[in-house]
Amino acid sequence: MSRPTPDVVLCPGGPMLLRGEHLVMDDDGVEHPTTRPISAVCRCGKSATKPWCDGTHKVIPERLRP
Ligand code: FES
Repeated sequence: MSRPTPDVVLCPGGPMLLRGEHLVMDDDGVEHPTTRPISAVCRCGKSATKPWCDGTHKVIPERLRP
């Protein structure tokens, strides 16, 4: 029996990956729909395109990453 493919993956030190259609609500209550095959949600709080990851987590000190 094969295991199901997770539709939410937490990347160590990086974003949360969402597979498929999701509705993400930000800190202000604004909803951000996504239907992309894979979407990356920022977990470090430093992205300029929140709620989406823009790769900024790669340049912040490792101890400050999620
Ligand atoms: S997790 Fe990638 S920019 Fe925040």
